[in-house]
Amino acid sequence: GNETVSPSLVPPPGTSKRTPHSIIIGVRKGGTRALLEMLDIHPGVAAAATEVHFFDWDENYAKGLEWYRRLMPYSYPYQITIEKTPGYFTSPLAPARIHAMNSSIRLLLILRDPTERVISDYTQVYFNRLENHKPVQAIEDVLVRNGGLNTRYKAIQRSLYDVHVKNWLLHFPLDQIHIVDGDTLIRDPLPELQRVERFLELPPRIVASNFYFNQTKGFYCIRSDGRERCLHESKGRPHPPVNSSVLQQLHSYFRQHNRNFYRLVGRTFDWH
Ligand code: A3P
Repeated sequence: GNETVSPSLVPPPGTSKRTPHSIIIGVRKGGTRALLEMLDIHPGVAAAATEVHFFDWDENYAKGLEWYRRLMPYSYPYQITIEKTPGYFTSPLAPARIHAMNSSIRLLLILRDPTERVISDYTQVYFNRLENHKPVQAIEDVLVRNGGLNTRYKAIQRSLYDVHVKNWLLHFPLDQIHIVDGDTLIRDPLPELQRVERFLELPPRIVASNFYFNQTKGFYCIRSDGRERCLHESKGRPHPPVNSSVLQQLHSYFRQHNRNFYRLVGRTFDWH
């Protein structure tokens, strides 16, 4: 929510860097960037500029909490600091480490249909590899192995939300984890943002006029402080078509995991 970048290295008077009061823990490709940028509309929010990877990368965690704190944005005492690192959700060590830093932290988890997430994850890797002049594989070649679903594929494993959320529930009560419906955030962002404001106990400041639909991008963009901006072109890419029998196999593979997840979090989603 800090609209101007300080022209010098001098921090604005009255601000300081503080460890986060809230973290967007994932999931990768769930809409984590959109959620952070949309929350940053709020004047009571100070968002970290980059993905910090403190709790999921051992070499960063070894640098200590002071290293982490210095990567946080300057904030006013009335603001809450938020960082997002999508890798935390699937990291086995992140829950205990975050709990050790701040046991009352509020966690934000944005999820979307696990099958959609797999295809989005594949698409991101595909474009990253193209940019780095590395060989790429067709989507069916990574999803299928020996005629069956390649369930060891990392992108499929990351979509087993029940498996990952269990680790978090060992360390945090459910009421400290707010789940944002990433499919709804795409279609109609305001109600999801209003639920997050309530969860974070922020005064309601995000309004309908903060969003406008951009026909060219095919997604909502942000209007704030008299400026309009859409997310980077890597957000909201077209997905490759997937053979319907492979899609069916993905849906049936995720079905029981999704049911387990609904039971664990006491809420259902309209996933396949
Ligand atoms: P796709 O590019 O596969 O469509 P993350 O930031 O966690 O990597 O998530 C990226 C996803 O955010 C995109 O996946 C897109 O669907 C989703 N998203 C949600 N709201 C968006 C918005 N307003 N603009 C662009 N992408 C958005």
